[in-house]
Amino acid sequence: MSRIALVTGGIEGIGAATSEALAAAGFRPVATYAHNDAAAEAFGARTGIPVRKWDVGSLEACQAGVAAVEADFGPIDVLVNNAGVTADATLHKMTAEQWHRVLSTNLTGCFNMCRSVIEGMRARNFGRIVNVSSINGQSGQFGQTNYAASKAGIIGFSKSLALESASRGITVNVVAPGYVDTAMVAHVPAPILAKIVEGIPVGRLGRPAEIAHAIVFLAGEMAGYITGSTLTINGGRYLT
Ligand code: CAA
Repeated sequence: MSRIALVTGGIEGIGAATSEALAAAGFRPVATYAHNDAAAEAFGARTGIPVRKWDVGSLEACQAGVAAVEADFGPIDVLVNNAGVTADATLHKMTAEQWHRVLSTNLTGCFNMCRSVIEGMRARNFGRIVNVSSINGQSGQFGQTNYAASKAGIIGFSKSLALESASRGITVNVVAPGYVDTAMVAHVPAPILAKIVEGIPVGRLGRPAEIAHAIVFLAGEMAGYITGSTLTINGGRYLT
C-alpha cells in the first residue's frame, strides 16, 4: 500500500517539487501551507495532491493537523519538514520579532511536527523523517544569524532524533540545499545574488526537482540504513 507522506510548506518551491516527486514515486503526499490560500488552491487543482492549512509554529495546530490528516488518509509514515522562512538582517539591526519568527517556523516547527508524528511511527515501527536544512546552516551567512541558527539547529536535532529512533525502524535525515531557484532566493537583492551565483562551481542555481529527488531517495524503503546523515546539495558552493 502507498505510504502517506506529509510535506510541510508543500505547495511552493522545494516543497511543491517534493510533493510532486513523492506522488510520482508512488507515495500519497499531503501538502501543508500556512498563508497563501490562492496558491494552495491552484497547487491542489493542478496536481490533485490534498492540501491542509496550519502554522507549524504551533504545537497544538500540528497535533490537530496530523490527527485530521491521519483520520482522512491513514498513518503518516513519511514526514518532510520543509516549511521555512527568512527575515534577513544583520544582527545589529535584527529585531526580536525577526529572530523568533524564523526560529519558530524553521526549528520549533520541526520539533512540533516530529513530536506530532513520532509516537505513531514508534508504535508502527516504521518512519522516514527528512528535515530540510540549508547551506547557510552549515557555512553561516551574512545577514542570517536567525536563519543559520535555525538551520544548524535542525542538523543537531535530527542527529539526536536519529539516535533515539533507530531501534524503531525510523530514520531521520537532513538535506542541506544551496541556493535554489525559488521565491525565497528571488528575494535576495539582485547584485548580492549575482555574486553568490558566481561562487557556485556548477555555475547556476539549483532546481527544486533536484532537491526533491534526494528527499524521495531518503524517504524510500531502501534508505533504511541511512540515518542521522546530512546530504549536501549545493552545486559545490560549500563542501562539508
Ligand atoms: N559579506 C561581507 N560583507 C557584506 C556582505 C557579505 N556577504 N554582504 C554585504 N556586505 C557589506 C556591504 O558591502 C556593506 O558594506 P559597506 O557598509 O562598506 O558598504 C555592509 O556589509 C552592509 O551591507 P548591506 O548594505 O547589504 O546591509 P543591509 O542592512 O542593507 O542589508 C542584508 C543586509 C539584508 C542582510 C543584505 O545584505 C542581504 O539581503 N543579504 C543576503 C542574505 C542572503 O544571502 N540571504 C539568503 C536568502 S535565501 C536562503 O536563505 C535560502 C537558502 O537556504 C540558501
